[in-house]
Amino acid sequence: MDRSRLAAAALLVAAATALARRVGQGRRGRQRKTRVALVDNGSLKPEATKSLRRLAASLQRRGNWTVEAVSARFADKISKDKLDGKPGEVLAPWLKRVVDEEGNQAKVLLLPLLIGPSDTLTKAMPEAAAASDLEVCIAPSLVCLCPAIYKAEESGASDIAMMLHEKLGDLTPTSGVTHVLLCDHGSPAPRVAAAREAVRSELEGGECPALETPPAVNVLIAL
Ligand SMILES: *[C@@H]1O[C@H](CO)[C@@H](O)[C@H](O)[C@H]1NC(C)=O
Ligand SMILES: *[C@@H]1O[C@H](CO)[C@@H](O)[C@H](O)[C@H]1NC(C)=O
Repeated sequence: MDRSRLAAAALLVAAATALARRVGQGRRGRQRKTRVALVDNGSLKPEATKSLRRLAASLQRRGNWTVEAVSARFADKISKDKLDGKPGEVLAPWLKRVVDEEGNQAKVLLLPLLIGPSDTLTKAMPEAAAASDLEVCIAPSLVCLCPAIYKAEESGASDIAMMLHEKLGDLTPTSGVTHVLLCDHGSPAPRVAAAREAVRSELEGGECPALETPPAVNVLIAL
């Protein structure tokens, strides 16, 4: 497994641990089963679901949970033949399956594999949660700039910047690279743009040990 996947898993484990603690502080008494899902935006491409599954598996190895790969949408439209025979899962049917398997007393932790608070996190996930009878906790996005939740240095931006920096590999200033374009999916939500900007800023000025003189980092948005 490459190091950036490990870093992402570490970030998610931290979020899951905090959530599990919160859930644990909730209701006392009879132990209720907790189910954990790593949730991405969703894609019709089988490789996206397979990648989500690999990350969920690595998260599972690092924590003491079973972690399932669940997309906000689309994954259920992919032929299971292209997904090693295991159908892709999306949020609402997955929550129904949890009720069928555990009863509606089960607790659910949703870990968004999303950089910032996109509509998937602020709308699709809470709506799916509200439509089920389950107690559902939703972790913050990978980069969370809300000061009530995390201190600035713990927003996740520098962790993501480190992952990206590793991807830069041998592109050091000596190779003649002077500019790096940071490219995200693009979102109309200003708070998502702010999360990306926080990562860009870390990548440019922050902890990039291999870059003695960090190249200017520009932002390119793919819309
Ligand atoms: C997430 O899915 C929505 C709905 O299909 C889409 O509009 C949006 O661009 C997607 N965002 C990302 C980051 O993939
Ligand atoms: C992992 O979870 C199981 C079942 O909930 C528990 O018995 C065990 O002590 C946990 N292990 C660790 C290392 O937390």
